[in-house]
Amino acid sequence: MRKDKPSKTARKVALNIVTLGVKPGMDKVLPPGIIEATEELLIASGAARATEVSLYHSRKMISVHAAFDWMMPGQFEAFGYRKAFCEHQVREGIGAGATQVLVLGAGYDTLGWRLAPQFTGVNFFEIDHPATSRIKARGIERMGGKDNLHLLAEDLGKRKLLDILSDVESWDQTAQTIIIAEGLLMYLPPPAPRELFDQCAAIAGTRSRIAFTYIGTGADGRPDVGRWTGLVLWILRAGGEPWLWSIRPEELGGFLEESGWTNAPELVGTKDKHGVEFFGIAVK
Ligand SMILES: C[S@@+](CC[C@H](N)C(=O)[O-])C[C@H]1O[C@@H](n2cnc3c(N)ncnc32)[C@H](O)[C@@H]1O
Repeated sequence: MRKDKPSKTARKVALNIVTLGVKPGMDKVLPPGIIEATEELLIASGAARATEVSLYHSRKMISVHAAFDWMMPGQFEAFGYRKAFCEHQVREGIGAGATQVLVLGAGYDTLGWRLAPQFTGVNFFEIDHPATSRIKARGIERMGGKDNLHLLAEDLGKRKLLDILSDVESWDQTAQTIIIAEGLLMYLPPPAPRELFDQCAAIAGTRSRIAFTYIGTGADGRPDVGRWTGLVLWILRAGGEPWLWSIRPEELGGFLEESGWTNAPELVGTKDKHGVEFFGIAVK
């Protein structure tokens, strides 16, 4: 991806969430407060203008998003299910004793900002490329920072997670932790996803869990998004944020075991595929 520019795909996800806020029925899926917080963050960070946000918060944008669903069927709503899935895992994990949450490739996700005041005994950390993380930090500062929310501007392709977190005084490597990798793994060049899972196992205590989304591999070895795979991959490449990694769902268990994680599909608590993405959960 373009390392000097804020992520376009993170912005797209956030604007998509804004439109889902006016889609009938999605209020039952989306986490409470997510629409308002996402709108506020987009504007406060300067990632989108107020006029653009209000355009996206209108019913006419539902048909615009829906019109693009032919390329990746179901993906418009899938972003909402993805947010709900991750938040469910975080809340459940905290309920089960986790005291740290780490969101990798956080983009304009608002989970940390919304949940930090509710769970003051939990430390929330986010990592994203400096170009995206910095403008998000500006937005969070304007919205009101939280003592237990820490934004780390780092390129996971350049520095090991272990090294990044060893420099963070409040990070506890023995703590029960929830790690979120939502819409991230497909952007990492192999073997980076393998190394990331290895390192996630090294930086978190026992009973930690990692919730993630991933793209399945097709028969031709490429990330599989259905009939229009070639076109979608081309568009992503042309936009500077290509998809580089995918895995067959049946190979996921073995992949996770090799990094010290156990596949825990029973914890997903939802259908395991939405749009073109699979949802995964593993425990340590
Ligand atoms: C599709 S966006 C998803 C954002 C967020 N997880 C969400 O779902 O709302 C992918 C995010 O991963 C980040 N990212 C991709 N490669 C990264 C890397 N090597 N290091 C840090 N962040 C990365 C991008 O900057 C972007 O914010």
